[in-house]
Amino acid sequence: MLNIDLMLSHRFKLFAAACLFLVTSTSGQTNKLFIPATMEGPTFDLTMAPSTHEFTPGIATSTLGFNGSFLGPTLIFESQSAIQLNVSNQIGEATTVHWHGMHVAPENDGGPHTVIADGTTWRPAFTVLDRATTFWYHPHLHHKTNEHVYRGLAGLIIVRDPIEAALSLPRAYGVDDIPVIIQDRQFDRDGQFVFNAGGVGAGGNTILINGTIEPFVEVGAGVVRLRLVNGSNGRVYHIGLQNNRTFFQIGSDGGLLEQPNELTRLRMAPGERTEILVDLGNLDGQTVGLWSYSSELVRGEPGGVAVGPGPPPRPEDISGTDFQLLELRVSGSTSVTSIPSQLVSIERMEEASANRTRPMILNRLGDIDVINGVAMDLSVINEVVELGDTEIWSISNATGLPHPFHIHDVQFQILDRAGSPPSASESGWKDVVLVYPGETVRFITKFEDFADPDTPYMYHCHFLGHEDAGMMGQFLVIDPNATAIERGGLPDDSFTLSSYPNPTTDWTTIAYRLEQRSQVKISLFDALGREIKTLFEGWRDAGENESIWKAQGVVSGSYFIQVEVNGIPRSLPVLIQR
Ligand code: C2O
Ligand code: CU
Ligand code: CU
Repeated sequence: MLNIDLMLSHRFKLFAAACLFLVTSTSGQTNKLFIPATMEGPTFDLTMAPSTHEFTPGIATSTLGFNGSFLGPTLIFESQSAIQLNVSNQIGEATTVHWHGMHVAPENDGGPHTVIADGTTWRPAFTVLDRATTFWYHPHLHHKTNEHVYRGLAGLIIVRDPIEAALSLPRAYGVDDIPVIIQDRQFDRDGQFVFNAGGVGAGGNTILINGTIEPFVEVGAGVVRLRLVNGSNGRVYHIGLQNNRTFFQIGSDGGLLEQPNELTRLRMAPGERTEILVDLGNLDGQTVGLWSYSSELVRGEPGGVAVGPGPPPRPEDISGTDFQLLELRVSGSTSVTSIPSQLVSIERMEEASANRTRPMILNRLGDIDVINGVAMDLSVINEVVELGDTEIWSISNATGLPHPFHIHDVQFQILDRAGSPPSASESGWKDVVLVYPGETVRFITKFEDFADPDTPYMYHCHFLGHEDAGMMGQFLVIDPNATAIERGGLPDDSFTLSSYPNPTTDWTTIAYRLEQRSQVKISLFDALGREIKTLFEGWRDAGENESIWKAQGVVSGSYFIQVEVNGIPRSLPVLIQR
């Protein structure tokens, strides 16, 4: 009897699961929205590990999570505070963790070079330089980003700052300030994720909000803030409220807008974040649906209406249909009851201040989408930017599909889209921009604070399937005045350095041999290790090299001559007797 019972209940669960996984656009949402726990600094301990998660009660789906079974905690960062993250990898293979949107040094950025081997812990520490906004974090290992995110590794970051704190905005997390991570998944008959690496990114017909299928959230009858993250690997959403109710966009990827932007629809591509205010005053006891009106996406966006040639959509495909994301159940009150009229001021970067324009052509190489005709190669630096420069990046799409272009390190301001100024919703700080076929989008940005001759930053399509397949490139930010500039050169084992005569009274010859053309810097240090002057800086050819230097204006004493070859310093004591 017991066995039969178990069999029946197991079958019933599978049947129930199949129904849930196929039906997504119902109106009566049944599951309470999961609100990820918050974590506050200055120390953040994150552990990535395999787990199982019951998206449907009784059915365990194999997943990956940070400190839990799916997704991760919401990290609260105070702007200008120093933080320490300890990121442990227990997933059984290597990965990385990237703080998407944050302005951090390359070695703290968690790009594909900053590999966290299985069983190890990565410990980036930095000061949060960003303004108040919503970021997110996710793995970034080349060829594995699509899969690792799909299996569940992603989480929200909220940056707070005094300017935002002084505004009358809802900010009680989970109460009137609601995280809304939008993702889609495909489940098989056993309730397991179907991961298919091809295409723009493994998608699916089941929408998850913070990992919850068909969610509702209870909110007060006043102003509610939603922090929307398109955390899907390859699906564009067209956000709106039922009955064309308006809402107010208050933030874009990298910060608040100058003033609330009243809208009925907002398109969101993968990687993009937006904060909106919904005024639910006078709606006590009612429900309001947050939907994706994807039938209105008709320009070839994945998730919209299919255009052009291509396989017919699967019968259960939700692309091009309208579906509910989250039901807002209104009861009680809120602490904020009106929409502020002004938010922050945004200093505009002037086009005339740009040091250069850098073209980025989204095009094809064989049968994959790439950037500037080349596929991502971890050993090739595609672009070199000089620290302190303001640049215009001009992104042109020569493919047949829109692509969300994302850049690390910086936030940018869109100058124009197909020659026209950006809409109000794209007028704030951005780090992802969807570029349509045939269009050129130009943005302006400034590369400040972080230069590193070794570790590059990434730019890429945020359709994670495209990114993994090669639609990514890497740029170094180099400090043109830096003492050690290494551009791919190797330390030379047979390096020899001599200085003669030594002791010297006047002229000194510094001789050294290079095995290959290298970046060289020669400096004089005093006995206490303080740099006195730079004697030479630049490129030198392979072979015997000499620099002749006159010990003029230097008092007698003990010194060191330092020769840096591709960033590797070697030094030699010299005695100056004048
Ligand atoms: Cu959200 Cu380079 O990524
Ligand atoms: Cu990023
Ligand atoms: Cu793409």
